[in-house]
Amino acid sequence: MVKGLYGFLTLCVLVFTGGPTHASFPLELNPPRVVVRYGDSVSVNCSTSSTDHDGMGWEATFGGTSLEQDVTFVTWTVDNLTDWTIEPKCYINLIDGKQPSKELPVILYKTPDRVSISVLNHSGPMVEGTQYRLQCDIQNIAPLQNLVVKWYKGNEFLDNITYSNVSKTPVDVSATLMISPSRNDDRDQYRCRAELDLGPEGPQPHPTVTSEPLSIPVHYPPTFSRPEAETLDIRVGEEITLNCTATGSPTPLYRWQSSDFQEALFTPPSEVPGTYTCTAYNQIGKISKTFTVNLKPKGDRTTFWVIIGSGLGLAMVVVIVYFVVKYRAGPNSII
Ligand SMILES: *[C@@H]1O[C@H](CO)[C@@H](O)[C@H](O)[C@H]1NC(C)=O
Ligand SMILES: *[C@@H]1O[C@H](CO)[C@@H](O)[C@H](O)[C@H]1NC(C)=O
Ligand SMILES: *[C@@H]1O[C@H](CO)[C@@H](O)[C@H](O)[C@H]1NC(C)=O
Ligand SMILES: *[C@@H]1O[C@H](CO)[C@@H](O)[C@H](O)[C@H]1NC(C)=O
Repeated sequence: MVKGLYGFLTLCVLVFTGGPTHASFPLELNPPRVVVRYGDSVSVNCSTSSTDHDGMGWEATFGGTSLEQDVTFVTWTVDNLTDWTIEPKCYINLIDGKQPSKELPVILYKTPDRVSISVLNHSGPMVEGTQYRLQCDIQNIAPLQNLVVKWYKGNEFLDNITYSNVSKTPVDVSATLMISPSRNDDRDQYRCRAELDLGPEGPQPHPTVTSEPLSIPVHYPPTFSRPEAETLDIRVGEEITLNCTATGSPTPLYRWQSSDFQEALFTPPSEVPGTYTCTAYNQIGKISKTFTVNLKPKGDRTTFWVIIGSGLGLAMVVVIVYFVVKYRAGPNSII
C-alpha cells in the first residue's frame, strides 16, 4: 500500500517536470518565432548545447540546409519569402538515434492592395433616420486572423471587426457597418481601415491601409427653431415682417396661404390684420406655421394718458360733490 503510493508520487513528479526529454531539449531557435512581410528576407538560428551529435539541419520548402556535422548552430535564410504555408523545421540527430526537431512558427503577412468604402445598394443623398449599410472592401490581405477592420466618422472611432476564421493565404474581405445618419452627420467623412495586429513580434505601429473618405449629404425635412404659432401686434401705419425661415436639406421652399409670395420673409400690408399661414417644404417633408397679426388702434403711451386723465377726472368729481354737499348742509354741519 505504502509502496504503491510512493510509486504514484514519483510518477506525478515526472509528469509535472515535463519528463526527462523536455528538461534536456537540445535545440533553441533564435528568434523563437518570426513575423515577415511577403517578399522580405528572413534569417533564424537554430543552436544546440550538445556538442556530441550526428549532424543538424533545417528542413523547409525554401532555405533548407543539408545535414551539417560538427557545428553548434545552423541558419535558415530566405532572401524573398513568398511561400504562404512554409513550416521550417530544425532537427538534430542524437547519438542515441533519436531525432528531435523544433518547428519555427512563421507569420507571413501582406497589406491589402486596395481598401475601398461604399454604400450598399444605394446612391445619392441619404435621408435622416433611414438605415444604410456601408461596405468596406479589402483586397488581397493575409493573414485573415490578424486583420482588424476599423470604422471612423471623421476622427471619431465607430466600431471594429475581427475575424476568427484562419487563413494563411491572401483573401478578399468585405466588412459592413449599419448607420442611421442624422442631420448632424451631413457630409461627414466615413472611412474604413484595414489594420494588421501581428502580436508583440510584429511591426509597430501596425501595418495599415485606409480607404478614401466617403462623404454623403444627409437630407432632412424643414424644421423651425420656434415651431409654435406667433402673435404680433402692430400699430396703424407700422410694417412688420413675418419670419418663416426653416432649416432643412435640401434648402426649403416657402408658400404663403392665399398669396403668390414664395420667400421666407413676408411683409403683410399694414391695413390687413389677420391670420397668415406659411408652409416650408422640401423633397423630404413639410411644416406649417401660423402668424396672427392684430391691429392696435393706439399705442401704449395713449393708454397711459387715458389712465392718468380718468384718475384726475374722478378726483375733480369727488371734490365738486364734496363742496356741493357741504354748501347744502349749511355752515353748522360737522362735515
Ligand atoms: C546567428 O548566429 C550567428 C553566430 O552567432 C550570428 O552571427 C548571427 O547574427 C545570428 N543570426 C541570427 C538571425 O540570430
Ligand atoms: C520575390 O519573389 C516574387 C515571386 O517569386 C517575385 O515576384 C519578386 O520579384 C521577388 N522579389 C525580389 C526582391 O526578388
Ligand atoms: C443589394 O444588391 C445586390 C447586388 O448588387 C443584390 O444581390 C442584393 O439582393 C441587394 N440587396 C438588397 C437588400 O436589396
Ligand atoms: C429669421 O429667422 C431665422 C431663424 O429663426 C434667423 O436666423 C434670421 O436671422 C431671421 N431673419 C430676420 C430678417 O429676422
